[in-house]
Amino acid sequence: MNTLDFSFTLFLLVLALLFQTSPSSSSSLRKGSSLSVENPQDTIISPNGMFSAGFIAIGENAYSFAIWFTTPNSINHNNTIVWTANRDEPVNGKRSKLTLLNTGNIVLFDVSLNNVWSSNTESLEPLELHLNDDGNLVLRELQGTRILWQSFDSPTDTLLPGQSLTRYTILVASRSESNHSSGFYKFFFDDSNVLGLHYDGPDVSSSYWPKPWLLSIQVGRANFNGSRIAMLDSFGVFYSSDNFTFMTSDYGTVLQRRMKLDCDGNVRVYSRINVSQDWYVSWQAISGACIAHGICGDNSTCSYSPKHGRKCSCLPGYKVKNSSDWSNGCEPMFDFTCNKSESTFLEMKNVEFYGYDIHYVQISNYSACESLCLQDCNCKGFQHSFVELKGFYKCYTKTQLRNGRLSPFFVGTSYLRLPKGNSFFEQESSNPSDHVSSVKLQRVFVRVRENHFVKIFLWFATAIGALEMVCIFVVWCCLMRTHQKTNADQHDYHLAALGFRKFSYLELKKATKGFSEEIGRGGGGVVYKGLLSDQRHAAIKKLHNHNAKQGEGEFLAEIAIIGRLNHMNLIEMWGYCAEGKHRLLVYEYMENGSLAKNLSSNTLDWSKRYKIAFAIARVLAYLHEECLEWILHCDIKPQNILLDSNLHPKLADFGLSKLKNRNTINTNSSFSMIRGTRGYMAPEWIFNFPITSKVDVYSYGIVVLEMITGKSPTIGIKNFNEEEVCDGRLVTWVRDKMNSLSWLEEIVDPQIGSNYDKIKMEVLTKVALDCVLEDRDSRPTMSKVVEMLQNYA
Ligand SMILES: *[C@@H]1O[C@H](CO)[C@@H](O)[C@H](O)[C@H]1NC(C)=O
Ligand SMILES: *[C@@H]1O[C@H](CO)[C@@H](O)[C@H](O)[C@H]1NC(C)=O
Ligand SMILES: *[C@@H]1O[C@H](CO)[C@@H](O)[C@H](O)[C@H]1NC(C)=O
Ligand SMILES: *[C@@H]1O[C@H](CO)[C@@H](O)[C@H](O)[C@H]1NC(C)=O
Ligand SMILES: *[C@@H]1O[C@H](CO)[C@@H](O)[C@H](O)[C@H]1NC(C)=O
Ligand SMILES: *[C@@H]1O[C@H](CO)[C@@H](O)[C@H](O)[C@H]1NC(C)=O
Ligand SMILES: *[C@@H]1O[C@H](CO)[C@@H](O)[C@H](O)[C@H]1NC(C)=O
Ligand SMILES: *[C@@H]1O[C@H](CO)[C@@H](O)[C@H](O)[C@H]1NC(C)=O
Ligand SMILES: *[C@@H]1O[C@H](CO)[C@@H](O)[C@H](O)[C@H]1NC(C)=O
Repeated sequence: MNTLDFSFTLFLLVLALLFQTSPSSSSSLRKGSSLSVENPQDTIISPNGMFSAGFIAIGENAYSFAIWFTTPNSINHNNTIVWTANRDEPVNGKRSKLTLLNTGNIVLFDVSLNNVWSSNTESLEPLELHLNDDGNLVLRELQGTRILWQSFDSPTDTLLPGQSLTRYTILVASRSESNHSSGFYKFFFDDSNVLGLHYDGPDVSSSYWPKPWLLSIQVGRANFNGSRIAMLDSFGVFYSSDNFTFMTSDYGTVLQRRMKLDCDGNVRVYSRINVSQDWYVSWQAISGACIAHGICGDNSTCSYSPKHGRKCSCLPGYKVKNSSDWSNGCEPMFDFTCNKSESTFLEMKNVEFYGYDIHYVQISNYSACESLCLQDCNCKGFQHSFVELKGFYKCYTKTQLRNGRLSPFFVGTSYLRLPKGNSFFEQESSNPSDHVSSVKLQRVFVRVRENHFVKIFLWFATAIGALEMVCIFVVWCCLMRTHQKTNADQHDYHLAALGFRKFSYLELKKATKGFSEEIGRGGGGVVYKGLLSDQRHAAIKKLHNHNAKQGEGEFLAEIAIIGRLNHMNLIEMWGYCAEGKHRLLVYEYMENGSLAKNLSSNTLDWSKRYKIAFAIARVLAYLHEECLEWILHCDIKPQNILLDSNLHPKLADFGLSKLKNRNTINTNSSFSMIRGTRGYMAPEWIFNFPITSKVDVYSYGIVVLEMITGKSPTIGIKNFNEEEVCDGRLVTWVRDKMNSLSWLEEIVDPQIGSNYDKIKMEVLTKVALDCVLEDRDSRPTMSKVVEMLQNYA
C-alpha cells in the first residue's frame, strides 16, 4: 500500500468517525457514536417530536442525561423531565458524553472519563438507541426486535402512559423542587403486594398511604395477587394488581399525561391538553397537604391553609435545624429532665403526632395520662383524645414527636413535655388557646339535628347558611393561627392564579342593572343575570346577609377552595365581591338555563339526557373521591344542573356545601348540617343517620328518574309528610311499573316518544333505582355508577 492510498483511507476513516460522532437530533443513536454535553444539538428526538433525550442542566455546571417533553412548560419554560440516568451523580458541563460502545453497552462518561452510569448491556449485533413515541428510550437490535435495555424498566419519579410499575421498579421522589437527586418518598408494591407510598428518611421509615392503620381490605386493596403490576393508560385510567384503580378527572383523550411522585410525597397525575397550555393536576393520591410523613421533619407541626399553602412550624421550645431544608426538623433548645416535678406540659389542640407510642391506654382521664408519661424518662409528650362514638379517652405516650400535624379535623389534643419555668410558651405562634373553638362547633352541629321534620325545615331555611359560614370561618381561623415566617411551601394557590377577580359592589350592581333580572334562587342567595364590563355574561349570586360577621379574608379562603375545584362539569367561578355586609359570587353564565327548565320545555332527546346523566355521575365521582378537597354536594336537583350552549351539563351551587375531611367521615361520620330540597333528600336526613356521600347518590338517582320519566319526584303530593319525602311517589311509581312486561315504555317520558335505545334506558333506570335504595350501604358509589354507565356510553 502506498502512502497516498494510506492517507486517503485514513482521511475517509476520520471523516466517517466525524460524521458518526455528531448525530445531531435524530431519533436514534448507533454503535460507536456519542452525544456530547457541550453540543446542545446532540439530542435524540422521538419520531412524533413529543420527547427528547439528551443532556440537560439541573444545576450550576451540573448535567444529567435525561428524557423530557420536548415542549417546555408554557409558564416558566422549564423542561418537564420524565427520566434521568444519573440523578444522584450529575456530570460536568465540559467533555461529558454518552456513548453507545461497540460492545453494546451505553456508558455515560464524565469529564475525567469515569463511568457514571451504564446500561450494562452487551451485544455484537448492530444496535441502535431509539426514543419511541411514548417516551421510552430503548436499546434494540437493528435487525430483529430484541430489546436489550429500556428506560421504562428503570423509572425515576415519573410513569408515562403505558409504562408499568412492577415488582422490580419503584418511583423515588426528588429531594426538592430544585434538587433532582433521590429524595425520601417512594412509591412501590410492598411485601404484601399492596401499592403504597412510603417515607424512607435518614433515620426512620414508615408508610402513609393507603392509611396504615387500616387493613388493606378495608381500603379496597387485595393482597392475594402477587403479580404486582400497575399502569396508567392514555385515557387516564390507572389499574393495579391489588385492585386499586382510579380515573383522572379529565378521563378521555388528553394530549399528554404523566404520573409523578412529587417531592412532597404525593402521587399526582398531570395532564396537558395542548402543548401551549400548562400542566394541571387531574388526580392525586392524598388530599391533605400534611398527610405525608416526615414532611416537616421531627419535632415540628405541619399545617395547611388554602391561602398560604403548607407551613412547617417548630414545636414551642424547639428551633429549626436548617430553615432551607425542613426535612431536618427541629431540635430542642432545652435540656431534658427526668425529674417529675420539673416537667410541665403544654397543651396543643388539634395537633396529632403519628406513631412512636410507648403506651396506648384506652380509658384514662387527663391526669392518669400525664402521670403515665412522667413515669418514663423518654416520654416527650402525649396525645389525649376523646373517642366520641365509644365515649372514652385514649392516651398515647410518645418517645418521639414525628409526623406532627395541626388539623382542625383532628379531634384530640397533644401535650408537649417541657422543663418548668421557661418562657417557651409565648414564643412562636403555636399558642394552644387559639385552636379551641372548632371542636365545640362540631358538637353544635350534632345537637342541632332534631327529629322533627318541620323544625328542621324551618331551621334549614333560616340558619343553615349561617352555620355553614360560621363553620368555615372557624376552621379557617384555626388554620390561620400559625402565623410563622416558615416556608416549605410548595403549593401556592394564589387567587390570581385561579383567575379570580375582586369586583366592587357598585360594579356588580351596574352589571345586573340594579339586580333586576333574577334567574334563580336557593342555596343561600338569589342569582341575577349580569353583563360584566368585559362584555361577558355572568350569573351573579347575592348571598343572604346572614354572614355579615364574616371577614373578607375568611370569605376569600372559602371561595379559594371552591376555585381550586377543577372539572369540566363544574360551573366556573370568575370572582367575588366582599364589601360591608355584601357577599356576592360571580359565575359563568349558562345560556341554556337549568336542567329543570329544559326538561319542562322538552328540548332534550334521550341521548342528550343519557349524556347529561353520565356527565353528572362523573363530576359527582370527582367531588366525592378525586378532588383536592373532599366534598359532598348535598343539594343535587335539576335546578342546580345548568346546561351550556352545547347542552353539556355543569353542576352549580357546590361551593356552599360542607367541606369535610375524608378521614373523618369514613370512620366516624357523625355530623353534618341539613341541606337539600324536598323530594331529592335521602332518608338519612330525616332519620338522623350519619351523612355520607350516599346522600348525593340518592339525589342523583331521583334526578335521573326524573329525566327518564319527565315526572317531578313530588308529583301529585299535596301535603308532605315524612314518609313521602323519604320515598317519594316517583320512586314507588317506577318500582311498581317494573312488574309489568312493557315497563320501559310505560315509564319513559312521553315527550321522548319511542325513539330511544332500550338497553341504555334500561341500564340507566336500574342504576337510578339502585341509587335510591333506602339502605345507604346498598347504594353504589358514584364511581361505581360511572363504571356501570360507561359500558354503554
Ligand atoms: C423552573 O423555573 C424557575 C424560574 O422560572 C426556577 O426558579 C426553577 O428552579 C426551575 N425549576 C426547575 C426544576 O428547573
Ligand atoms: C441535593 O440533595 C442531595 C441529597 O440529599 C444532597 O447530597 C445534595 O447536596 C443536594 N444538592 C444541592 C445542590 O443542594
Ligand atoms: C378485585 O377485583 C375483582 C374484579 O373487579 C373482584 O372480583 C375482586 O373481588 C376484587 N377483590 C377484592 C379483594 O376486592
Ligand atoms: C392479578 O393482576 C393481574 C394484573 O392486574 C391480572 O392480570 C391477573 O388476572 C390477576 N390475578 C388474579 C389471580 O386475580
Ligand atoms: C392550543 O390551544 C390554543 C388555545 O387554547 C389554540 O389557539 C392553539 O391552536 C392550540 N394549539 C394546538 C397545537 O392545538
Ligand atoms: C441547609 O440545607 C441546604 C439545602 O439542602 C444546604 O445547602 C445547606 O448546606 C444546609 N445548611 C446547613 C447549615 O446544614
Ligand atoms: C427532636 O427532639 C428530641 C427531643 O424531644 C431530640 O432527642 C431529637 O434529637 C430531636 N430531633 C432532631 C431531628 O433533632
Ligand atoms: C426534683 O426537683 C425538685 C425541685 O427542683 C428537687 O427538690 C428534687 O430533689 C429533685 N429530685 C431529684 C430526684 O433530683
Ligand atoms: C383518673 O383515673 C385514675 C385511674 O384511671 C383514678 O385513679 C383517678 O382518681 C382519676 N382522677 C380523676 C381526677 O378523676
